[in-house]
Amino acid sequence: PATTHARGGGLRFTPVPPQTGDVFTVPGGYDSAVVVRWGDPVLPGAPAFDFDNQSGDAQAKQFGYNCDYVTLFPMGRDRALLWVNHEYTNEALMFRGYSAPAATEEQIKIGMAAHGGSVVEIERARGTGRWKLVTTGRRRYNRRITAQTPMRFTGPAAGHDLLKTAADPEGRNPLGMLNNCAGGTTPWGTVLTAEENFDQYFVNGDRADPNVARYAIPTNVPSNNRRFDRVDERFDLAKHPNEANRFGWIVEIDPFDPDGAPIKRTALGRFKHEAATTSVRRDGRLEAYMGDDSRFEYVYKFVSKERYRHGDDRHNRTLLDEGTLYVARFTGDSPKEEIDGSGRLPEDGGFDGSGEWIPLVSGNTSHVPGMTAEQVLVFTRVAADKVGATKMDRPEDVERNPVTGGVFVALTNNSNRTPAQADEANPRAANKSGHILEIVEGRGTAFAWSIPLVCGDPNDPATYFAGFDKTKVSPISCPDNVAFDRDGNLWIGTDGNSLGHNDGLFVMPLRGRERGYVRQFLSVPVGAETCGPLVTEDQRSVFVAVQHPGEVDGATPDNPASRWPDGDQPRPSVVVVWHGQGKKIGS
Ligand code: FEO
Ligand code: CA
Ligand code: CA
Ligand code: CA
Repeated sequence: PATTHARGGGLRFTPVPPQTGDVFTVPGGYDSAVVVRWGDPVLPGAPAFDFDNQSGDAQAKQFGYNCDYVTLFPMGRDRALLWVNHEYTNEALMFRGYSAPAATEEQIKIGMAAHGGSVVEIERARGTGRWKLVTTGRRRYNRRITAQTPMRFTGPAAGHDLLKTAADPEGRNPLGMLNNCAGGTTPWGTVLTAEENFDQYFVNGDRADPNVARYAIPTNVPSNNRRFDRVDERFDLAKHPNEANRFGWIVEIDPFDPDGAPIKRTALGRFKHEAATTSVRRDGRLEAYMGDDSRFEYVYKFVSKERYRHGDDRHNRTLLDEGTLYVARFTGDSPKEEIDGSGRLPEDGGFDGSGEWIPLVSGNTSHVPGMTAEQVLVFTRVAADKVGATKMDRPEDVERNPVTGGVFVALTNNSNRTPAQADEANPRAANKSGHILEIVEGRGTAFAWSIPLVCGDPNDPATYFAGFDKTKVSPISCPDNVAFDRDGNLWIGTDGNSLGHNDGLFVMPLRGRERGYVRQFLSVPVGAETCGPLVTEDQRSVFVAVQHPGEVDGATPDNPASRWPDGDQPRPSVVVVWHGQGKKIGS
């Protein structure tokens, strides 16, 4: 049963110490192996990876770069489809002598093909937690999605003028997805993948358009721009101003339909999306929680109009096209003078309070004065600005605790927050290490919230580990991608550790005597962040994506900062970790 070990978290492993080496470390008794790396052949006809002989055509058939969100779709006991996001590319590490202004067309094509996502078949040897890429046989579901894959828009903004371009006068058929960061898995077995920092792929946005500014889209040609416009002019907004409106969405992909067009679901709004964590409410409606990962951005929620019907996937696949999109307002319950930006706990002993989901749009009805429903969906940030939503410290991944139902939001960091801007939901000025906030839904649009974890060096008084003894916990910084195991332990991947160590994967029990006892489970090599993570349903394997190993200022292929995983050029990879004796993860 799911709750057997919930009281103490069931965690007995010895934490790995913080480290700064070019290694992937796991606790004693555990093993790890790379499942799939950048460049591994995944489609028929793909050549073997050859760092010094790359091409766009090859990359479109090989595993992409910078793996991020990871999810699994079982195909029986020992086979599964693995979905992986490919968030972005780091050309300076991919090509010798790379310079953005002088990029070759082939380099640009490789970059475009290395974005998107992959579906790959994996298998395991019975009785172990180790999974491997299937490299022989038909592999009929293997798929690469890239910056050029034909897609569809659905929902209230599909076909609207704001989404029309010369190449797509109907405004319904966008090409490709970009910067897919976190994600979610629906109850009907599809992936929701979140387009995050899509602004960076465009050039020449309209300086006079406030919507361009609100999404930080370049109004010139930045010297570090990848120059996709040189291969495909739709990325030049002076020529195709609406093209940028076609990115920044939640994209749904059915891994078992390799020919199906991915769907950009406009009802979920457009921002720098992180995650889309779905669950079915008690009343049968589907909820999707989402973050917008920039400093001072918002937390959102979509609630479907219709109810989920168990087993009726045809119906369920329409749920994300009609409903209400909300943005969160967090109100603290302690006096403002006690929230001074120092991170010191207020006198009531907790950063906590109440909140409200503020409706922005329901179907074709806008709730925002001066904006139509379609404008709210395409310029969601602008709409949220108008209704008094709470500006957060970079809302990243959101996950629901399967044991208690609480919804956990990772707030990565926000070094720009001033003491005067501190509020109880974002209580630290110059927040370098981030925090985690729990939402407990209440009646209607009301909720309660609290902060169980304020990250950092536990010796720093401005940290909080749910009241647990701070002499015992692992230092943790910049929570990013989060996941739950079936026992309700929160697994936290970090990105951008500000304490001088490599990033890693941590676990935090949320109930019982060990609530707040944060322990580091693994650490990743130099320059990498820890993405995924995924603890499998049987709790025998944990998957993490090691994103951007070797991404250190000034590193190049001739002067690499990391040689992980092969002792050669660094390659972003998905790794599986298991207990050598087949024990439960965390044992
Ligand atoms: Fe791509 Fe918000 O991290
Ligand atoms: Ca991420
Ligand atoms: Ca309080
Ligand atoms: Ca991140």
